[in-house]
Amino acid sequence: MAETTTQTKARRTARIGVGRLYQNRWMLAAAILAVLAVRFFGGVSMPFTVATIAALVLFALVAPRTPAARRLAEASAIDRSPLDRLSGEKLAAAVADPLIIFDRDGTVVHANAAAETAFGAIRPELPLLLKFRAPEMQALIEAVLAGGGNGQATDYVERVPFERVYRVTASAVGRGTGLFVLAFKDQSEARRIDRMRADFIANASHELRTPLASIAGFVETLRGPARNDPNARDQFLQIMQNQTGRMARLIDDLLSLSRLEMKPYLKPGVRVDLRQTVEAVIASLGPLAGETGVVIERDFADGPFEVHGDRDELFQVFQNLLENACKYGQSGGRVQVKLQRAGQGSEAELEVTVRDFGPGIPEEHIPRVTERFYRVDVETSRAQKGTGLGLSIVKHILTRHGARLSIRSKLGEGAAFTVHFPVA
Ligand SMILES: Nc1ncnc2c1ncn2[C@@H]1O[C@H](COP(=O)(O)OP(=O)(O)OP(=O)(O)O)[C@@H](O)[C@H]1O
Ligand SMILES: [Mg+2]
Repeated sequence: MAETTTQTKARRTARIGVGRLYQNRWMLAAAILAVLAVRFFGGVSMPFTVATIAALVLFALVAPRTPAARRLAEASAIDRSPLDRLSGEKLAAAVADPLIIFDRDGTVVHANAAAETAFGAIRPELPLLLKFRAPEMQALIEAVLAGGGNGQATDYVERVPFERVYRVTASAVGRGTGLFVLAFKDQSEARRIDRMRADFIANASHELRTPLASIAGFVETLRGPARNDPNARDQFLQIMQNQTGRMARLIDDLLSLSRLEMKPYLKPGVRVDLRQTVEAVIASLGPLAGETGVVIERDFADGPFEVHGDRDELFQVFQNLLENACKYGQSGGRVQVKLQRAGQGSEAELEVTVRDFGPGIPEEHIPRVTERFYRVDVETSRAQKGTGLGLSIVKHILTRHGARLSIRSKLGEGAAFTVHFPVA
């Protein structure tokens, strides 16, 4: 490391030397010519000539520069580090995160563009304590100005125009410059992911705990008061079996979700026939349709309906949509499955719509039904053996396929779930 530094210094000194010789080249050439002429015509001795030329070269190396030469050196900046030429403003502009430079009076000297985008106009001379009135920001700024809080950080929540959380660090710029800097790091995305993870664990535990508590309760009853009651025993064992089934379904769905998250990309080159896949799903749901008294109607356009994808995953998508339509739209008595083409050119899409004629979904719930564990009516979903994970699995699968889901519903008239595939 030390060797590298010495080499760098030597290289820089050599560069400066060459630069100065270059700047003084005409003066040097004229002087050397004069010395040679004197030697030629005047018979000066060889050692004296060489010594004079050497002295001239030395002088060219160390002679003080004329103002013109200095200007030239500044322009070419041959002997200056690039950092010396960097202005604080340019440096701040190159930083993607919000950055505010302020002086020892706590007034703004400069705010970069990211800071203005995040917090609105911040003109120079504005007292920083007026801009950031939150107590934690006041404490941070006051501490760094008092000289005690260099490098300290705090969390700051900006609520307008929408909520964002920042980690803010306050530091002094070098020693004795009288300047300080506030650096903001946006933590909103990381917080959102943390919150989602915590919600997910809470929801999953809650969903597992409910059937577990019910099973534990029945075991206790069977060992106690219902020990010698064969009727109660059969009934309770049936309930326990249902509850273990529910737990198994939940674990399967959770595993499905985590598997989908682990492999975000599809195997290339596999074609799936949507018509065949939808037919297979309808056949597999025959018993459920019979049980719920729902008739499944087909409205398939002619021509091929092929997409690039994973057949099992697409089967799972249509199975969930059709199962939901039969379970929640049961009162409509029929479910329609439509295959059609839409759009032109680069906008062309293959669409699969599953429509029921049941109670529909209230508008405010529509954007949320694809969230994990979100149900419009928890009791109805539980009664239908739902886990609330079906549509979030659907959404994950469709994202992997470059497809999207749109939901339309009118209260009392049913719901229509459409999957839009790009035409590959
Ligand atoms: N066709 C529909 N009509 C009315 N409500 C629906 C319909 N499809 C879905 N929903 C609502 O959206 C919620 C979420 O559906 P989702 O498929 O994700 O979960 P689930 O059906 O409850 O459970 P799972 O699919 O895991 O068995 C349902 O609980 C239901 O409230
Ligand atoms: Mg479902």
